[in-house]
Amino acid sequence: MSASESSETALITGASTGIGEALAREFARHGDDVVLVARRRERLDDLATELADHGVEIHVLAMDLDDNGAPTRLWSTLEEREIAVDTLVNNVGIGTYGRFAESDLEAERTQLRLNVSVLVELTQQFLDGRSEGAVLNVGSVAGFVPGPHMAGYYASKAYVNSFTQALAAEHRETDIDVTVLCPGPVDTEFQERAGMGDSAVGSYLVYTPEQVARAGYRGLRVGETVVIPGAAMSLLVVLLRFVPRSLQRWGGRLVNGDR
Ligand SMILES: NC(=O)c1ccc[n+]([C@@H]2O[C@H](COP(=O)([O-])OP(=O)(O)OC[C@H]3O[C@@H](n4cnc5c(N)ncnc54)[C@H](OP(=O)(O)O)[C@@H]3O)[C@@H](O)[C@H]2O)c1
Repeated sequence: MSASESSETALITGASTGIGEALAREFARHGDDVVLVARRRERLDDLATELADHGVEIHVLAMDLDDNGAPTRLWSTLEEREIAVDTLVNNVGIGTYGRFAESDLEAERTQLRLNVSVLVELTQQFLDGRSEGAVLNVGSVAGFVPGPHMAGYYASKAYVNSFTQALAAEHRETDIDVTVLCPGPVDTEFQERAGMGDSAVGSYLVYTPEQVARAGYRGLRVGETVVIPGAAMSLLVVLLRFVPRSLQRWGGRLVNGDR
C-alpha cells in the first residue's frame, strides 16, 4: 500500500525495539504517520529516519512511562505539538522473573504500572469522547494461564487480554476497533530484561517481532478482537481450554524453571 492511502496517525508505546519497533514499521509501511514512544531517544531517532522513507510523518517522544503522571503528560505533549492520534498501540511491557516471595517489590510495581496502569490510563484518555479510532493492546498467550515464577507478569497479561476483549464488546456497534494481540514467545530483548535464563519459554516455537507485528496490524484492520500469531500458538490456546487448572499450574512451573 502506498503512503497516500492513509493519513492516519498511530501512537506506539515501547517502540524503540522488539515488537513495538516492528509494529511501527508495519504502520509506516501501510502509510500511517507514527508517534514513537520509549526512553532511548537515539534508537527512536534512528527508527524515525528509517521510517521517513515511507513518506510518512514520524514523531519521537522520548519519555519514561513509569514516571508519575506519564500518560497525562504524553497526551498534553501531543496536544501542544498538535498531533492527533487515530490508533493507540499499547505495546510497552516488561516481565519480572523468579519466585514472587523473593522478588524486588519496586520491579513488581514498575511491571504493574507499565503493563496495566499505563495501558488503562492511555486507553481511557484516548477513548473518552471519541467516536472513531482504534486500539491495539499487546497482551500475551501468557495471559490465558497462571504463570508460576512469572506470577505478576502472567497476571498482568490476563488483565490486558480480558480488559481489551471487554472494551471490544463495549464498542461493537461503534466506529472504534479494539484488538488484543496475544503472541507466544517472541525473539526480543524481553527475555534478557526479565532475566529469564532458567525458563524454557523461548526454547521452542519462537516467533519474530515482524511475524507478530504483521498479524497484529492485519487483525486490527480486519476487525478481529483476539489475534494469536501463528497456527501452532492458536491451537495451543484452544487446547489449553481443555487442560485442568491444576495441570496448567504444574506445566507453568515446569516451563518457567521449577524443574
Ligand atoms: N517477547 C515476548 O516473548 C513477548 C510475548 C508476548 C507478549 N509480549 C509483550 O510484547 C510487548 C513488547 O515486548 P517486547 O518483547 O518487544 O519487549 P522489549 O524488546 O523488551 O521492548 C520493550 C519496549 O518497551 C520500552 N520500555 C521499557 N520500559 C519503558 C519505560 N519505563 N518507559 C517507556 N518505554 C519503556 C523499551 O524501550 P526503552 O528501553 O528504550 O524505554 C522497548 O521499546 C510487551 O507488552 C510484552 O509483554 C512479549
